[in-house]
Amino acid sequence: MPLQGNEQYLSVGLGDRSYKIQLLDTLTADVLRPFAEGRSCMIVSDSTVADLYLGETFALLKAAGAASIATLAFEAGEESKTLATVESICRTAVARHLDRKSVIFGLGGGVPGDMAGFAAAIYMRGIDFVQLPTTLLAMVDSSIGGKTGCDLPEGKNLIGAFHQPQGVLIAADRLKTLPDEQYLCGLAEIIKCAAIMDEPFFAELEANVEKIRSRDDDFTRRMILKTCALKAKIVEMDEKEGGIRAILNYGHTFGHALEKVSEFSILHGQGVAAGMCMALELGEHSGLIPAEVVERQKALIRATGLPEKYDFNREQVYQALFSDKKTVGGKLRFVITPEMGRAEIVTFPPETVREYLGL
Ligand SMILES: NC(=O)c1ccc[n+]([C@@H]2O[C@H](COP(=O)([O-])OP(=O)(O)OC[C@H]3O[C@@H](n4cnc5c(N)ncnc54)[C@H](O)[C@@H]3O)[C@@H](O)[C@H]2O)c1
Ligand SMILES: [Zn+2]
Repeated sequence: MPLQGNEQYLSVGLGDRSYKIQLLDTLTADVLRPFAEGRSCMIVSDSTVADLYLGETFALLKAAGAASIATLAFEAGEESKTLATVESICRTAVARHLDRKSVIFGLGGGVPGDMAGFAAAIYMRGIDFVQLPTTLLAMVDSSIGGKTGCDLPEGKNLIGAFHQPQGVLIAADRLKTLPDEQYLCGLAEIIKCAAIMDEPFFAELEANVEKIRSRDDDFTRRMILKTCALKAKIVEMDEKEGGIRAILNYGHTFGHALEKVSEFSILHGQGVAAGMCMALELGEHSGLIPAEVVERQKALIRATGLPEKYDFNREQVYQALFSDKKTVGGKLRFVITPEMGRAEIVTFPPETVREYLGL
């Protein structure tokens, strides 16, 4: 991992769409300059993040030589991930004279990141954007890989575009204000990546549960870098999810169903954690996953304070599996881990899933 001052970075190699993920102690004007100097900039954020970091980010962009800086902060939360918000971003961009050479900065978690990215993908048929993630989930997952989009009343992430950012600038000090339960949501995606791709990293997580629970700065940075590298590798192999990128959906088939049945009262990472446990149990039930693989993953999830299960109505959970956009033609697809550090995509007949659920 190249080291430079307070910065560590890695690259996402996608030909002319390649970019760097930079891990910094804090954001600086110097780091922003290559993206902002002489250009019309716009910062897209949410109300909570704007209160905390918009003023500082604005000042840094100014010091980095931005020609102009527009800002837009929508109300924090998934409810804002709508076409209406995208429209307001684009209309603000017009009002502030952003042109094809301008750049949008997504400042916040996955919601501002997806919004900024999607607006940048469609504004004037595509302009540059830079991710400034402030949640652990955004740092290790949503800001990397170019998936952008928004929700419809009918379901989450039903509209979107692939649009890679010009850069991902992770300022680790932003995590200081992040609530514990949001930190744990990011951790669920970290555990997911280790479980499907990297057994030694999984073992490192197991050996450092105390540091995880105390949110140790150095170990957090270590987890961010490692997970970004794993995600970058998958994105390089399969940018548009034609194949292997789908393994990143581990825990998400059941996870989305749990989120839906809870009427979104549980957080995404909580659904993913319990969803991984359910995929493990389903795999064990079908004779595809050895007991020790199941136990190791459940033990780590439990030890970190993430939920292992939810006692929602099982019939409703089953029905909710079919509303996931990744479920095709009535068949139920799951990512499973037949051994630690390796994933497979398998299709189960609905009866097997019903049987596992005790229905
Ligand atoms: N594009 C992708 O590849 C991808 C991948 C995973 C998830 N996502 C999307 O990401 C979203 C979830 O991301 P998220 O969990 O970051 O959600 P989020 O952006 O809503 O952030 C969660 C909460 O934390 C607050 N927050 C953010 N940073 C903070 C900070 N530093 N201090 C204090 N509070 C802070 C936010 O205001 C918000 O209330 C979902 O919409 C999901 O669909 C996208
Ligand atoms: Zn996820």
